Amino acid sequence: MKIQAFILDLDGVLTNTSEYHFQAWQRIAEEEHIPFGRQENERLRGVSRRRSLEILLGDALPRYSEAQLQAMMDRKNAVYQKMLEQITPDDFLPGASELLDGLRARGLKIAIGSASKNTRLVLDRLGILDAFDGIADGNSVAHSKPAPDIFLHAAALLDTPPASCVVVEDAESGITAALAAKMFAVGIGPQARVGKAHLRYDSTAQLDLEDVLTTFERL
Ligand code: BG6
Ligand code: MG
Repeated sequence: MKIQAFILDLDGVLTNTSEYHFQAWQRIAEEEHIPFGRQENERLRGVSRRRSLEILLGDALPRYSEAQLQAMMDRKNAVYQKMLEQITPDDFLPGASELLDGLRARGLKIAIGSASKNTRLVLDRLGILDAFDGIADGNSVAHSKPAPDIFLHAAALLDTPPASCVVVEDAESGITAALAAKMFAVGIGPQARVGKAHLRYDSTAQLDLEDVLTTFERL
């Protein structure tokens, strides 16, 4: 099997929106008097908006009506979208733009595989809405990460067998999803979070494309 395509997560891989997600949830947690810090936030990384809220509320979840839950998700998203207004084409994480260039130069197909319903908005702010052969986002599938559906959908958009796809992910839920899709998983972040990936780098800037390609071919 040869690598034909890369499926890239967005938040935390190409741009630092994962920090904005955290700050927006923190705002909601404060309003609801729920303790919520960076440690708790690790469990929210990569998962859908609704699942994030369920995790954040924890045991308190049954106390809220569906209308209240919806209102909290809407509030969080409004805060988050306000933060997105700051994003410009200068807001790639270090190495992200070079990664896209390197993939293109090697003739590989590129898709986005993100749980976010704001994916197109973020890509537009970064000026790369047209840079992909496929966009699989929070509107594409019913079952979010850690289910494999989003990556399988991306592979279908690219007309590429899953076994020829590489996923780049910063979330534990995303690595689980990639492995469940039988794809080669590249983790971005600490061992404790993405250590189950086939390969791991501390940051997008550290990702070595040649290393990924040769490791994949050796498997
Ligand atoms: C993922 C983020 O990409 O998208 C999560 O890592 C976020 O933190 C999820 O909750 C859903 O995003 P949105 O924009 O649909 O609320
Ligand atoms: Mg992410």
